[in-house]
Amino acid sequence: MRHTQKNKLIMIILGIETSCDETSASVVTDKKEILSNIILSQLKEHEIYGGVVPEIAARAHLDYLDKIIKAAINDAKIDFAKLDAVAATCGPGLIGGVMVGMMAGKTIAAAHKKPFIAVNHLEGHALTPRLTNNVEFPYLLLLVSGGHTQILIAENVGKYKRLGTTIDDAIGEAFDKSAKMMGLPYPGGPHLEKIALECNDYHKALEKFPLPRPLKGRKNMDFSLSGLKTAVRNHIEKLEGETLKKEDISQLAYSFQIAITDIIKDRIKRAIDLYKEEYKPKNPTLVVAGGVAANKTICKSLTELSEKHNMNFVAPPLKLCTDNGAMIAWAGLERFKKGYNNNLDFKAKPRWPLDGEI
Ligand code: KG4
Ligand code: ZN
Repeated sequence: MRHTQKNKLIMIILGIETSCDETSASVVTDKKEILSNIILSQLKEHEIYGGVVPEIAARAHLDYLDKIIKAAINDAKIDFAKLDAVAATCGPGLIGGVMVGMMAGKTIAAAHKKPFIAVNHLEGHALTPRLTNNVEFPYLLLLVSGGHTQILIAENVGKYKRLGTTIDDAIGEAFDKSAKMMGLPYPGGPHLEKIALECNDYHKALEKFPLPRPLKGRKNMDFSLSGLKTAVRNHIEKLEGETLKKEDISQLAYSFQIAITDIIKDRIKRAIDLYKEEYKPKNPTLVVAGGVAANKTICKSLTELSEKHNMNFVAPPLKLCTDNGAMIAWAGLERFKKGYNNNLDFKAKPRWPLDGEI
């Protein structure tokens, strides 16, 4: 706790994130102040493998987490005694990394006699728009990251209804795998977006590199991306013999982004209808969260769709879209204020669906 100038108490929480390849710690208050948010990306460690290697990730978290936590506490100009609670990602994710962050969180909580809060990484993404914007429940949530693709209704803290998910690859994964086939560096998503911007003949791009929209028009709200990825591979194989020209890559990347955007729009339209009909929200809002929310083409199309349906559209700032400790601290805070905290024998969960018990 700390006092404001008006002598009001402020709640302060430390959040730890280690579920994938970002080692991060952050201090956040219930007044929505991010006092610190230190993020170390292990890009170099995984780059040569073209993807995250779980054992290397876990070791890197182990090597750096202490320093990252210390930096987060120093940057926030507090000490551990001032914390009200300690939150850590306890799943879903790569179990080695999750264990490192969870154990560090439990140790700090035990040593300083603070409550421990086990946070679902997906709830961290899901609640971020309440930290950055004053979004009220219930809101429609599109969660799109490297490991997850879900359409949910966020009804309350700890309460989510899943409307659709992917039956094969996640959208971020489709970006990353397609980018890799195009010879782009890891992680592929942002590189694919960048090279698509260099496409100077949209019409030709769509004609030369047509791509499917799997499940488009189906009544459910699920996604399937593996067919799209295969179609990208087929185009690249057809070009074999010729060296892959930059112009081809930028056109294929453009066509890929348009296909993904079409697929998302089609699925989300159904979700909007259901959300409005079943929940009759006073202030209907569509939120996009997760790393892929950084993609401007996707965000632009969701903005237009929201306008058309008289809804607010919220996408958190880039730094808070991808994995970070502030989202975990904030989710911890929201849970703590609701009276949730966890015992120190809480077990890490490699799989932990948001619409289950959280
Ligand atoms: O949420 P996140 O940081 O980590 C997971 O929990 O997965 O998301 C990372 C994913 C990666 O697949 C990355 O390529 C993708 O988000 N991504 C993007 C963009 N920036 C990050 N995908 C498309 N366009 C982008 N600009
Ligand atoms: Zn994530």
